Amino acid sequence: MSNPRVAIVGATGAVGRVALQILEERGFAMDALRLTASHRSVGKTMIYKGQEITIEATTAELLAECDLAFVSANDDISQEIGVLGPQQGCVVIDDSGVWRMDPSVPLVVPEINADDVDGHKGLLAIPNCSTTPLAMTLAALGAKNPIKRVIASTYQSVSGTGSAAVAELNTQAAQVLAGEPTTAESYPHQIAFNVLPHIGSLKEDGYYSEEVKMRQETQKILHRPDIAISTTCVRVPVPISHSEAVNIEFERPMDPDEARELLAAFPGIVVVDDPANAKYPMPIDAAGTDETYVGRIRKDSSHPNGLALWIVSDNLRKGAATNAIQIAEEVAKRGAWLRERV
Ligand code: A2P
Repeated sequence: MSNPRVAIVGATGAVGRVALQILEERGFAMDALRLTASHRSVGKTMIYKGQEITIEATTAELLAECDLAFVSANDDISQEIGVLGPQQGCVVIDDSGVWRMDPSVPLVVPEINADDVDGHKGLLAIPNCSTTPLAMTLAALGAKNPIKRVIASTYQSVSGTGSAAVAELNTQAAQVLAGEPTTAESYPHQIAFNVLPHIGSLKEDGYYSEEVKMRQETQKILHRPDIAISTTCVRVPVPISHSEAVNIEFERPMDPDEARELLAAFPGIVVVDDPANAKYPMPIDAAGTDETYVGRIRKDSSHPNGLALWIVSDNLRKGAATNAIQIAEEVAKRGAWLRERV
């Protein structure tokens, strides 16, 4: 059985670079690897397993020569490749918000709903980087005690916006420390030494689009459209890893010790919960790892059936590239390619 030929579309971006690294780390079996980016990068090279790979343009011909494409570029590219890829016989795993809520597109966190990969039509989506750790936590706890309502506030890193935003944070931080004026391009305001309660575009109901995504995607992944969810998404001056303060209301009371056991037993979740010794999940510890970390697990003092906790995970890895590659592994396991691989 031959292995898939793979493309990373947006290989030079914040997520694309990490995807390249994770494919190597996991020893993902493939017969060819193609890298694409914008015209600015075509002809430059990137390294995979010590070999130089030349960056190409994303063309129909290239997609026709691949069995699988990871797409993390921008919404326009996702819109285009989400259609063109499957037409060319290439399974697309997309990182944007363009396709996630399309009923024909599986939205997958393999630890939760791997079977949703079955019956895909050539296009699968990974959730928003703040959705995945929340959905995993809810799946772990809700299996034992059904969840009724969730309130989540996020503390999201700038790498979720892309590599330009990471560079901007560094530049602004240096400018502020030097007493110089800052310029803001990635966000409406300075992000260094600031927090912005604003991610995405404003909707009619007063929520920003990131908050709507978190709600709708979590409901879709869990197959629980009835869970009531309200989120506030906040950008913070952290380079990598998103954090979330979450309050969960269950049907019955949930003991914190039982919650710790359920979370620790769930694949991909690590409990870090020793607040007396100042041990809890933090972005600097989560960055560069694939796990979702949960701590500060306690009874919610505002509701008899409530639990409060704190989640942190690397938004570029489990929040994006790792999850995408895990979905590809599920496709490979099922032999669910669009064309025969013999
Ligand atoms: P480039 O580096 O050439 O601009 P980020 O999420 O970090 O902002 O990265 C976005 C990614 O999307 C980069 O790899 C960028 O390439 C890539 N990209 C932008 N436009 C295109 C395009 N037309 N085709 C393929 N990739 C693109």
